[in-house]
Amino acid sequence: MNKLEMLYEGKAKKVYKTEDEKKYIVSYKDDATAFNGVKKGTIAEKGIVNNKMSALLFRLLEEKGIPTHFEKLLNDREMLVKAVKILPLEVIVRNVAAGSLAKRLGLEEGTILKNTVLEFCYKNDELGDPMVNEDHILAVELSTKEQLETVRQYALKVNEILVPFFLDRGLKLIDFKLEFGLYEGAVILADEISPDTCRLWDEATNKKMDKDRFRRDLGDVEQTYQEVLARL
Ligand code: TMP
Repeated sequence: MNKLEMLYEGKAKKVYKTEDEKKYIVSYKDDATAFNGVKKGTIAEKGIVNNKMSALLFRLLEEKGIPTHFEKLLNDREMLVKAVKILPLEVIVRNVAAGSLAKRLGLEEGTILKNTVLEFCYKNDELGDPMVNEDHILAVELSTKEQLETVRQYALKVNEILVPFFLDRGLKLIDFKLEFGLYEGAVILADEISPDTCRLWDEATNKKMDKDRFRRDLGDVEQTYQEVLARL
């Protein structure tokens, strides 16, 4: 399968058409941004780590019954995926308070949440991905009610699968962001699952093992990405 015209270039990935109109090729870049593109940099070989880690996790999730866009790894930086139409929602799942939730609710980072928290943001860079609730989503038709219910169920199931998977590898899954797409009328998991889109803390030391090392200038960024992949 060959890359044809580039369909889209995002902050961390490029998406190409292929000869098969039902398949895209995703190419993972080393570019890193934070704070809606205000902070820019590169993380050497991040694209390789995120491609391989996403492939591994999509395979795991498929085995456990979550439909995903993943078809196969093509090389270090590229995967073949189903040509989905992305729902304009960022779905955030939280087990422990960190990042914007800790800030918003005045909680210390690391505070265990009594229940899993699901948040939705409208995927729109110009607006800075504002948080929306179910009423907003339905009112402006970001998805249908049925699609949203499926998204909710899949997101919670992904969390139930990934929390023990990471813990077995010495990592606490603090929170993460998912994106879903439509393929042949059905909602399936898309985008990526990587240290860019998850918060992962070392089980023993609580060392941050994710993109917060870049966002907050904590150092050891490249090594940490490699270490996460090695642990998986
Ligand atoms: P937040 O605490 O900054 O809202 O982030 C929650 C989770 O979502 C965290 O695991 C990082 C991930 N995330 C993304 O994948 N993309 C983004 O643009 C943002 C802001 C967060």
